[in-house]
Amino acid sequence: MKRTVRDLVNLEGKVVLLRVDFNVPMDEGGKILDSTRIMQSLPTIKYLIEQKAKVVIMSHLGRPKGFEIRKSLWPIALILMRLLPTTVFFSNKVVGKEVEEQIKSMDNGDVLLLENVRFYQEEANCDMNFAKKIASMGDIFVNDAFGVAHREHATTYALARLMPNAIGFLMEKEISALSGAVENPKKPFVVVIGGTKVSGKIKLILKLLQVSDALLIGGAMAYTFLVASGYAVGRSFVDDQNVDYARDVLTVAESLGKRIVLPVDHVCLKEGSKKRKPFVSEELVDDMIAYDIGPKTIKLFSEEIKKAKQVLWNGPLGKYEDSRFCEGTFDIAKAIADSNAYSIVGGGDSVSAVKKAGYEDKFDLISTGGGATLKYIEQGSLPCIDVIQEKIKL
Ligand code: 3PG
Repeated sequence: MKRTVRDLVNLEGKVVLLRVDFNVPMDEGGKILDSTRIMQSLPTIKYLIEQKAKVVIMSHLGRPKGFEIRKSLWPIALILMRLLPTTVFFSNKVVGKEVEEQIKSMDNGDVLLLENVRFYQEEANCDMNFAKKIASMGDIFVNDAFGVAHREHATTYALARLMPNAIGFLMEKEISALSGAVENPKKPFVVVIGGTKVSGKIKLILKLLQVSDALLIGGAMAYTFLVASGYAVGRSFVDDQNVDYARDVLTVAESLGKRIVLPVDHVCLKEGSKKRKPFVSEELVDDMIAYDIGPKTIKLFSEEIKKAKQVLWNGPLGKYEDSRFCEGTFDIAKAIADSNAYSIVGGGDSVSAVKKAGYEDKFDLISTGGGATLKYIEQGSLPCIDVIQEKIKL
């Protein structure tokens, strides 16, 4: 068990360096389109304020190459000023004399948000000298950035090696829900997997096959599996290099006695007729391209979900950003939301589909991680979690 903020005593007046994941989607004008990650970071920030610590917050935003005004964390500082019951300062630097002066002038319980740590290339390089400069400004390091816990960067990893440390409440919640779901699943456990590429998800699928009872595969990925099963898919997207992988997965499933359920009908267009009205077909032949699962598949998947005690969902089931092809994804989101199963959704696109469909409150865990969630499920740990001190057993 990792040490959490709750295990830290005498925080009054201590400078806590808190790493969060404020990597939120923003429009061109800096308007935040989804503030889930900010809201989910608040319990730890508020707790540290209540403990009268001086809270210095660090985060990345996007993947900037040097300073980029559109990737500044300033709009997030403005939000924190509204949401937090204390004085919130902003620093346009991460290290240096000015930041040190700002920290010195903070009162207990104040918050200082530092500028985007990725404006410094030392961050992604996990530069120890950079990390040492940051570490010298604080007393304790708290990592609550689950979404980036798979990246060994200066402020996610190196700081933990240099300072007394703990995880925050969000990290604790994600770890406990995801590890519980995979190590000790409620049965029947149904996994719904979608998205495009098979390659990035092979390990995830193999891991989930071991612990689940049925794997429902939709999205563009399904066509690679259909080809591997010997079906024609017309001109639908196939991840050609990974058909053999898909075949291996099907063989493993068979040897484990696990069910892989593939779509039985599809919402299609004919190649070259992008503006036409889509049609439903059970067979994919000639110039047909499938963009969503069809009504029979929705029914088939929904019945599996109804029987489940636990459902884990990752990846959209069709090209859901186009309103003609969103039904599969939204109906499956509804089926999971309406079921009595313990429900977890992870991965950027499926989480955003759940929100778009308005079922956010009906899921038990909406994981804040994209790649981090998938890696955590695959490996059962992440480097930036591993590096945190264990709780002292009394
Ligand atoms: C995410 O959005 O998945 C995390 O913030 C990590 O971002 P990254 O993939 O740019 O490292």
